[in-house]
Amino acid sequence: MRPSTWLPVLEQLASGIMISGSEFGSSLGVSRAAVWQRVNYIKSLGVAVEATNLGYQLKYPVYLPNIKHIQASFTMEVNLLPEVTSTNTLVLESRTERCLMTLYQSQGRGRRGRPWVGAPGYALMFSVGSWLESGLQEFSGLSVDIGVAICNFLNTQGIPVCLKWPNDLWIGEAKLAGILTEMQGDQDRTFVVVGFGMNLEKPHGIDSSVACFHDHSESPWCDNQTIGLVTAILGTITKYTTSSSEDRMCRYREVSLLERREVAVDDGGKKILGIAKGIDEFGRLLILTDRGVKYVSAGDVSVRPV
Ligand code: BTN
Repeated sequence: MRPSTWLPVLEQLASGIMISGSEFGSSLGVSRAAVWQRVNYIKSLGVAVEATNLGYQLKYPVYLPNIKHIQASFTMEVNLLPEVTSTNTLVLESRTERCLMTLYQSQGRGRRGRPWVGAPGYALMFSVGSWLESGLQEFSGLSVDIGVAICNFLNTQGIPVCLKWPNDLWIGEAKLAGILTEMQGDQDRTFVVVGFGMNLEKPHGIDSSVACFHDHSESPWCDNQTIGLVTAILGTITKYTTSSSEDRMCRYREVSLLERREVAVDDGGKKILGIAKGIDEFGRLLILTDRGVKYVSAGDVSVRPV
């Protein structure tokens, strides 16, 4: 179903008020059966809608960004496309400085080739593209630094989130958000795309083991928070080459979930066991093992039970 068909249904329901089938039908100019079909479609995408004989009502608040409001805070272009394949893919392909937000991705991508799924209004999903006047090799630690900046921002919003290297955001034992940083370039210029996905609400009927923002906040996510987050990301990107690596390493340790804990790193079959001891200037994770310090630049890390 096209977004022009399902989005008006979500927009009407977003007020949180119950809407009867006939009211709904006449405001959309369609039959009650068509309303039912559209509601079922957004339910199939993971949005929880209560349907009784009185009408339809959302179970949880949805976040539908007001792009005009967000755009007013930035000089770069900010767009919302209700449905895309992946915002990272589109921004990478366009190679233009912009922020692209979406409500639904049919091919959302996570790190290490994993899919990333978010239901419309239940996830914050956007990608920011930026040109940098330095070569690709200068930015090896940027991805982790962006994770630190996002973590700090969410902490200021009262969310008790930690950074799980390299750039996942966790609350306790559950993942709240993930970052996918991709770069293309040569020795002189780099195009960086930072993709961010955060669960605001648990997608209905999909994986429930994730953490979500609304479980930890008294008020639902809002545009000013999106503006704050995008500003934090852009600030980190712009200041990266002039920031001190000592500072970055220190800021990392303050928010790291892994610091001084026993961890196991799995890098495609190769396992490293040891104690996590911060990062180096390239954003590599340092692990103190029986055979000395190992530097890890990629992999999945798990905290070993004590
Ligand atoms: C991860 O957890 O491994 C990273 C998840 C990144 C998901 C975001 S959602 C917006 C942007 N577009 C994508 O396809 N991925 C990122």
